[in-house]
Amino acid sequence: MTTIGFIGSGKIGGTVARLAVAAGYDVVLSNSRGPSTLADLVDSLGPHARADTPSEAAAAGELVVVSVPFGRFRELPVDALAGKIVLDTNNYYPRRDGNFALLDDKSVTSSELEQRFLAGAKLVKVFNNINYRHLGALDRPAGAEDRSVLTIAGDDPDAKKQATAFLDAIGYDAYDVGGLSGSWRVEVGQPAYARIYGPYGGIGHPVTADTMRQALASAQR
Ligand SMILES: NC(=O)c1ccc[n+]([C@@H]2O[C@H](COP(=O)([O-])OP(=O)(O)OC[C@H]3O[C@@H](n4cnc5c(N)ncnc54)[C@H](OP(=O)(O)O)[C@@H]3O)[C@@H](O)[C@H]2O)c1
Repeated sequence: MTTIGFIGSGKIGGTVARLAVAAGYDVVLSNSRGPSTLADLVDSLGPHARADTPSEAAAAGELVVVSVPFGRFRELPVDALAGKIVLDTNNYYPRRDGNFALLDDKSVTSSELEQRFLAGAKLVKVFNNINYRHLGALDRPAGAEDRSVLTIAGDDPDAKKQATAFLDAIGYDAYDVGGLSGSWRVEVGQPAYARIYGPYGGIGHPVTADTMRQALASAQR
């Protein structure tokens, strides 16, 4: 049984955890306020879920979903994440996160900056460009006509392979957009960002590989 660790267990982390449990994974959740504050979520997910500290969630996970407000990435447990595959859901919103000069002048992508900080981890950017409600509603079995793609970006081929297998298990096909330096194509404001799956508030609509390809082709930095 594969265990998925979670650092950040809010809207996106909690949704991925629910999909993971439904697919047969064990999950270890964490947040900044402590495991006891996650009791309701753990109860709702059932016996395959538990809560612990961020370091312990990182240690327990073969894959670790990092889903905190981007501006707090420097609080992540670097040592515990060394060697781990990190599924990075984060987006840079200066109003929420504060300003980062290297992002404002577009020298690097937000995931490259996070990867530099988590030097020993293998980052895959995924889940960042879909609203959590859509993510929780659009999962479909393998081969279903209305199965959606989710983009992945990363610099480690094996990490992307494992992320692809995880996506497949929880109901999505992976669409590889390349390395972390190219992940600006799925950042905030790009055609492939969020609303491609439908307006906020609704249950969303499926996104095919063709639709995603067109959106990525019209990206502008
Ligand atoms: N909401 C969406 O639909 C969506 C979609 C795609 C991507 N994203 C991105 O994914 C990230 C998370 O978004 P969200 O909407 O899930 O946020 P959220 O609902 O506010 O959840 C954030 C989670 O991160 C935890 N956290 C904050 N600082 C932490 C730290 N230093 N260490 C450990 N845990 C910490 C919070 O725990 P405490 O409450 O205990 O602090 C909470 O569990 C953001 O970067 C966001 O832009 C969001």
